[in-house]
Amino acid sequence: MKQVLDKIAEYRREFEEELKKVDAFKSFEDLRVKYLGRKGGILKSLLDLLKTVDKKDRPVLGQEINRFKIFVEQALKDLEESLSRKKAELEEKKRFFDISLPGFPLLEGGKHPLTITRRLIEDIFIAMGYDVASGPEVESDWYNFEALGIPKTHPARDTQDTFYISDDVVLRTHTSNVQIHVMKTRKPPFKVIMPGRVYRKDADITHSPMFHQIEGLVVGENVTFQDLKGTLEIFLKRLFGKNARLRLRPSFFPFTEPSAEVDVSCIMCGGEGCRVCKGSGWLEILGAGMVDPVVFENVGYDPEKVSGFAFGLGVERIAMLKFGISDIRLFFDNDIRFLRQFG
Ligand code: DAH
Repeated sequence: MKQVLDKIAEYRREFEEELKKVDAFKSFEDLRVKYLGRKGGILKSLLDLLKTVDKKDRPVLGQEINRFKIFVEQALKDLEESLSRKKAELEEKKRFFDISLPGFPLLEGGKHPLTITRRLIEDIFIAMGYDVASGPEVESDWYNFEALGIPKTHPARDTQDTFYISDDVVLRTHTSNVQIHVMKTRKPPFKVIMPGRVYRKDADITHSPMFHQIEGLVVGENVTFQDLKGTLEIFLKRLFGKNARLRLRPSFFPFTEPSAEVDVSCIMCGGEGCRVCKGSGWLEILGAGMVDPVVFENVGYDPEKVSGFAFGLGVERIAMLKFGISDIRLFFDNDIRFLRQFG
């Protein structure tokens, strides 16, 4: 009897030691099987032992074994609970999101220099009472050329390296096509500007196969060349500053008569002559003229009753001058280090 009691005491010490070492469910399960396993478990072996001792000792021993069994069961139950709790805490920790951490910096978008320039120009004309209109970039030969006084055989076609979609459909080479759309859908008087993308097969540091123009058109009764000159003067002074001066040179466009190249006094040197104006003191900035009667006839207007002026300018050219950019390709390379400098 004493032997068995000692054994129980020894198992108990051993169990308590082993209990301390359990740190995961795996070793917990091993421990449980070792003591409580139905086959070969220590408690089973103690009960087997009970059968071999004196009958009179059995109740006391039985009680002792039972007490040990309850102790083991309770200890394992407590341990299992604490392991479960630890596991849950660990998972909670993994899920934890520290809301006090500083956030990621928000990348703020900016405006493209061409957008800034276009809006600047639009705002100047809107302030003078102009509407803003747009038209198709894929255009019929008639709207892009014919209606503007440029028939198939006209030498003016040579100056516009055209992308043809088919014999009769082109990527518009200028925004002048919108003049025709506007005149066919509106009744004079009106003042409109028409910004948009245009296309020419041309590429170097000042030419891009896709670029932007802004067309202007004013039609009404008694619109004169004076009006054209005054309008452009106000425009250039608002765009480049009040010291900007205007110069008109005779020119030719099939859709205007008379026609003029419009120069502004060099915005870099003020007209002294520098590298940008190639020593001349002037920068060529746009084309303009009085709407040719043939254009009015093509849209069904009576050239005896209405007159008008038109102009066309390149947005890239103005942006390059305003921002001091020397290579047109920078606008379209999409290099964020370049674009970030403007807006
Ligand atoms: N369409 C011309 C071009 O692409 C620019 C132009 C010149 C437009 C004179 C006009 C104008 O409206 O009157 O080069």
